[in-house]
Amino acid sequence: MVVVKTAKLGGTASDVTVGKVAHGLMMMTWRDPNHPLPDEEAFEAIKAGVDAMPPGVKMFLNSGEFYGPNQSTANLELLARFYEKYPEYAERTFLSVKGGTKEGTLIPDASPENLRRSVDAINAALRGTKRVDLFECARVAKNVPVEDAIKTLVELKNEGKFDHIGMSECSAATLRRGNAVHPIAAVEIEVSLWSYEEETKKVIETAKELGIAVVAYSPLGRGFLTGTIKSPQDLPEHDMRRHFSRFQEENFKHNMAIVDSVKAIAAKKNVTPAQLSIAWVASRGSHVIPLPGSSSKKRNLENIAAGDVELTEADLAEIDEILAKHTVKGGRYRDDVDPEKVLHLWG
Ligand SMILES: NC(=O)c1ccc[n+]([C@@H]2O[C@H](COP(=O)([O-])OP(=O)(O)OC[C@H]3O[C@@H](n4cnc5c(N)ncnc54)[C@H](OP(=O)(O)O)[C@@H]3O)[C@@H](O)[C@H]2O)c1
Repeated sequence: MVVVKTAKLGGTASDVTVGKVAHGLMMMTWRDPNHPLPDEEAFEAIKAGVDAMPPGVKMFLNSGEFYGPNQSTANLELLARFYEKYPEYAERTFLSVKGGTKEGTLIPDASPENLRRSVDAINAALRGTKRVDLFECARVAKNVPVEDAIKTLVELKNEGKFDHIGMSECSAATLRRGNAVHPIAAVEIEVSLWSYEEETKKVIETAKELGIAVVAYSPLGRGFLTGTIKSPQDLPEHDMRRHFSRFQEENFKHNMAIVDSVKAIAAKKNVTPAQLSIAWVASRGSHVIPLPGSSSKKRNLENIAAGDVELTEADLAEIDEILAKHTVKGGRYRDDVDPEKVLHLWG
């Protein structure tokens, strides 16, 4: 049986208890537009996670305004169909939705008009089936100071369009600036065995100091760390990972050494490599909530159970040694584009 450790959100959501492992829904509608996941399969995966939660504990679900083919609202529409069919799951889930990019694009725009447009589009796609518990700008926009962006979000929140404010892919300094305007409930950043940069550590530390939960995205290295992807050719033809630097043939082969070591430690602990990867992310602090994504019921349950896996000091030391020995080749996204100007990383 899954025991399910729990976690607390921060800021004004601090009275909400969620499962220690969240569920990202992105790949349910994003990765392979030619083969969309049948609704029932997606619904079973979501329900299994929610049903595994103890009474009173919500499952943290993560979506986005643009999680769909051509940055459409397909993922939110899928969620609306889910909540329409299973309305009793609305209260049992804590829904976080990212937005704040120009309509149909991934270009951040924190102007008051665009934030209002984005929040309204999210609520329209959900059709009143579920309240948005947390809204985050997906990236820190350069066209508006972060203080003003948060002030606009406070206005929208006060109008009753969502309940709590989060931030995503921001630096520690920006998180501090945003939190000074209004308490931030959660900050979503990439954290995994192969994505643990100096800024990652700073954000985790700052969030702890300010009482903000860290929602740690892509804890499985977009599936790579699970050991199930043996070569870049295993990825569907239109899968976005095919464009990412770490998945390019030469880098992929080099980075496999990390997976081999993860597999060896996981086997010794009688857990799966995915569970070891998630448990390591969870071990970064009691305020860190790993956010693996899975479109399968079985893998979602496997991932949730990882919240209960304990890593000893010896395990952590062994993992540190591996990370020091096997450096990662390739950046988190694409090395052929500017990480700041185009990808808006650590904004
Ligand atoms: N804020 C941001 O900028 C940002 C960026 C990226 C992602 N995110 C969020 O983070 C979530 C997770 O990120 P992600 O999907 O990029 O990466 P991830 O969670 O690191 O990896 C997901 C991949 O691993 C596979 N997988 C999941 N559990 C598995 C298991 N137990 N064994 C083997 N394979 C497994 C999934 O395939 P199956 O579906 O087939 O199980 C999927 O291909 C997203 O859904 C999204 O909500 C946020």
